[in-house]
Amino acid sequence: MKRVFSGVQPTGGLTLGNYLGAIKHFVRLQEEYDCFYCVVDLHALTVPKDPKELRTLIVDTAAYMMAAGLDPEKVTLFVQSDVPAHSELSWIMECTATFGELSRMTQFKEKSEGRESVSGGLFTYPALMAADILLYDTDVVPVGEDQKQHVELARDLAIRFNSRYGDTFKVPEPVIPKTGARIKSLADPSRKMSKSDTDPYGAIFLGDSEDEIVKKVRRAVTDSGREIIYDPDNKPALANLLTIYSHCADIPIEKLEEMYAGKGYADFKKGLAEAVIQCLKPIQKRHREMSESGYVKEALVEGARKAMEVSTPVLKRAKERLGLPNHMMG
Ligand code: AMP
Ligand code: TRP
Repeated sequence: MKRVFSGVQPTGGLTLGNYLGAIKHFVRLQEEYDCFYCVVDLHALTVPKDPKELRTLIVDTAAYMMAAGLDPEKVTLFVQSDVPAHSELSWIMECTATFGELSRMTQFKEKSEGRESVSGGLFTYPALMAADILLYDTDVVPVGEDQKQHVELARDLAIRFNSRYGDTFKVPEPVIPKTGARIKSLADPSRKMSKSDTDPYGAIFLGDSEDEIVKKVRRAVTDSGREIIYDPDNKPALANLLTIYSHCADIPIEKLEEMYAGKGYADFKKGLAEAVIQCLKPIQKRHREMSESGYVKEALVEGARKAMEVSTPVLKRAKERLGLPNHMMG
C-alpha cells in the first residue's frame, strides 16, 4: 500500500480553504492509502503563541479532522511534538538544505515581510516539513497550492541526501487538487483564505454559525457586471465564490452558471450561503460529539505510538548513513 503524509498547523480555527484544499482529499485517500496525518504543532511555534490557546487548538484541530471524516481506525492521526524523531531529522535536513534554497521560499518571504522580529524557525520551517515527510517513506503528499514549493524542496533534499550518503529516503510527490487548491479570501480575492486573516469577513471557519456564514457571504466582494459566469482572469472574486459553491454543493460550475443565468448576485449569494451551511452542518455536529467524548485524545495517543514505530527505523537509518553512532537506539 502506498504511503500518504500531510500536516495541518494548529494556528487557529480551520477554514473552508483547509477543508476544500486539503482535508476533504485526506478523507478520500484514507480508503486506498496508508495515511499519516499530523497536527504540526512545532510548526506553529515559529510565531509566538499563547500556551493555553495552543494546547486547546492542537486537540481541536485533530477533532475537526476527525469530524470531517478521518477515521483513526484507518489512518494514523497524531501530534508532531509527540514524536521526537521530527525534531531530530529536522536538524539533519537543516544541514542538508542551503541558505539560498531556504531564502527562495515564497512563504518565508511573505510571512517575514514587514515584521520587526522573525524567528530562525520561520526561516528553517521547510526543513522541519521535509523531515515530517521523509520520516514515513512517503509516496504522496496531498496539499493545497501554497505548499507545493515546500514539498518540492523535500524532494530535492531527499535526492541530495541519497546521492551524498547512499539510498536512504524515498522521494515523495506532491498531489494538488485540480480545483479548490487555492481558495481565496472573501474580502480580497488576490490573497488566499487564511486562518490568520486580519479581515474578520475574509475567512469562513468550519465552526462558524449559520448567521456568521450568511453575513460573510453577503459581504463577500464581487466583480463588476451582473452575470454569473466563471471567468477567473476578469472576475476573480466570482470565480472563487463559484469554486466554493461547486465544491460545497457538489455541483459542476457549468451547471451553476445555468442555474443562475439571468439571476443576480443576491440570489446567487443566497444559494452559496445555503450550500456552505449544508456542507459544514454534519462536520459541526460530529465535532461537538467528538469534543465531548474524550475519543480524540485516545486516538492521538494511539496515533503517536504508530507514528513512532514507523519513523524510528527511518531516523536510525539516516543517522547511520551520516556516521552518527545510534548508541541508544539498539
Ligand atoms: P495550514 O493551515 O497552513 O496548515 O494548511 C493546511 C493545509 O490546507 C495545507 O495543505 C494547505 O495547502 C491547505 N490550505 C490552506 N489554506 C488553503 C486555501 N486557502 N485554499 C486551499 N488550500 C489551503
Ligand atoms: N507547512 C504546511 C502548511 O502550512 C503544514 C505541514 C507541515 C505539512 N508539515 C507537513 C504539509 C508535511 C504536508 C506535509 O500547510
